[in-house]
Amino acid sequence: PIIKDLFGLTELEIRLARVLRLKKAVVVQGDSDQSDWVKKEMGRAGVRLLKQTARPGQVVAVAGGTTVAAVAEMMKASPALRESIFIPARGGLGEEVELEANYITSLMAQKAGGRYRLMHVPEQLSHEAYDTLIREPHIQEVLELVRSARIVVHGIGDATTMATRRKSSPELLRLLQEKGAVGEAFGYYFNRKGEIVYRGRSLGLSLEDLENVEMTIAVAGGAGKAEAIAAVCPVSGRDTLITDEAAARAILKQH
Ligand code: G3H
Repeated sequence: PIIKDLFGLTELEIRLARVLRLKKAVVVQGDSDQSDWVKKEMGRAGVRLLKQTARPGQVVAVAGGTTVAAVAEMMKASPALRESIFIPARGGLGEEVELEANYITSLMAQKAGGRYRLMHVPEQLSHEAYDTLIREPHIQEVLELVRSARIVVHGIGDATTMATRRKSSPELLRLLQEKGAVGEAFGYYFNRKGEIVYRGRSLGLSLEDLENVEMTIAVAGGAGKAEAIAAVCPVSGRDTLITDEAAARAILKQH
């Protein structure tokens, strides 16, 4: 805390929480767009928060991306985490395997010493495949578990960056642009006002399910994500955001 105050990070946290209507903001020093260790620090802060708040028997839903992967990499076991079940928040979103929620969930669970279940569902399902899959007992069981999540850990992405990384069609890229998509979180794309402008047809946690979640932890940093974070965070209204100084300062400059 002394170090934080020295850099004015505590004040940044308070201002950011107020502006983005967050339950709590945690700001680490630096810019994760510039250096990888800043992302690791966000990961470490995520682990600290998870360890502090964990309760035995809880379900933790985990989303994908490099920042949540940093939380998984930094994860350490604790008694309550050993008695937690980790589950992917969503099925595939068209990312590389290492960035998919399934992979990151298993990594996080193993490091935490907890149990995990996976959701083997591909991205961009057809209507028919979606309707069939959703009736599968195994899938239903996993989906029920996701909906019982006490904690959700997710990243936030810049809309265009995410759509490109997931190799979206030129049509979708155009649509997102037309609709003014700026931010993305677990497969939903949001405009500047925080309205959903697009969602893919993949299975998992829906935005409505977040109402029953006790704590959502968003982990996202880098000045380049300022607009995305500012659009996505106020949506749930009770997110805890773990971010970095560069994103925090850029957001506060706009507000
Ligand atoms: O949904 C958001 C993205 O998964 C964020 O990905 O952490 O690699 O930027 P990232």
